[in-house]
This record gives sequence, C-alpha cells and structure tokens, in this order.
Amino acid sequence: MEQIKVSSAEDRAEIYRELLPQLESLVSDETDFIANIANVSAALKQALHYVSWVGFYLLKGDELVVGPFQGKVACTRIKIGSGVCGTSAEQKKTLIVPNVYEFPGHVFCDPDSKSEIVVPLLKNGTLLGVIDLDSLEYNSFDEVDAENLERVAGIVARASDGG
Ligand code: SME
Repeated sequence: MEQIKVSSAEDRAEIYRELLPQLESLVSDETDFIANIANVSAALKQALHYVSWVGFYLLKGDELVVGPFQGKVACTRIKIGSGVCGTSAEQKKTLIVPNVYEFPGHVFCDPDSKSEIVVPLLKNGTLLGVIDLDSLEYNSFDEVDAENLERVAGIVARASDGG
C-alpha cells in the first residue's frame, strides 16, 4: 500500500482533487468494508489539516454506532434523529454546522469541537451510516467539503459490496 500524499495547499478544492483518486485506489483492492473505512478515515485525517475528528457512524437497528475513526474517544451510540449525525441520517442529507452551539440537540462528544459536517453514507438510497468531521474552529466546513465528502461517501459505498 502506497502512502497518501497531498500537498499542503490551503486551497481545499486542490486537496480533494489530489486526495479522491488516492481514496479510490485505496479501497479498490480490498473488499472488507471496515478495513476500507478505517483507512479512509485515516486518509481524511491526514489530508484535511482543519479536522480534529473524523470517522464513521454505522447504522445498527435504529441507532448509529461508532465505527472506525481518528481522533479522541467519541460517543458510542447516537439515536436516529438525534444530534447532527442522527439528523443527517434521518434526512439522508449533508449538514454543515458552522457553530455546534447553535444546533438544537447537538450531541457533545468533544467539548472543544466548534463546527461540524456530517454526510450520509447511502447505497442505492439505503442508509449505511454517516461520515462525521469535527473542527476546533467555528465555520470550518463549506460547500467544497460537502461536495467532495459526498464523493468520498460514494467511493466508500461503491466499495462496500464485498464487505
Ligand atoms: N457531535 C455529533 C456527535 C458525534 S461527535 O462529534 C464525534 C452529533 O451531534 O451528532
């Protein structure tokens, strides 16, 4: 396995342009879903310097259960409809939260986290879970992140067949 290489560009569109093909290649040789999302969370953490926590919550019954992630110890279970992750899962919609203190019902895992983005992981319209990224700064995530993290979710979902 090659290492992930991205330039330290401030331009995040450029970071994703370099990163996405590497993620495709990372998951293409492996059919195990957990192995793939473990490596994808590590790659995202390495490439996105503004991220303090990144990981997957996977749908189990009516709850999201924490999966592979990079960062501090996190909440283990989140109900569908609860917090940013549970709301994104319920609505099957990407949520950008510039200030977590202003999100009703936000689930506080890390008291230092200030902004967040959550992207649903969908396979042919069926929810598998979500990808969650946190930052220690307000307003850390924008439409470039949303668009590209949805592509990451697509890469992961397509690679989930064999897992
Ligand atoms: N803040 C999230 C919980 C997950 S952690 O941030 C890792 C939420 O409100 O869903």
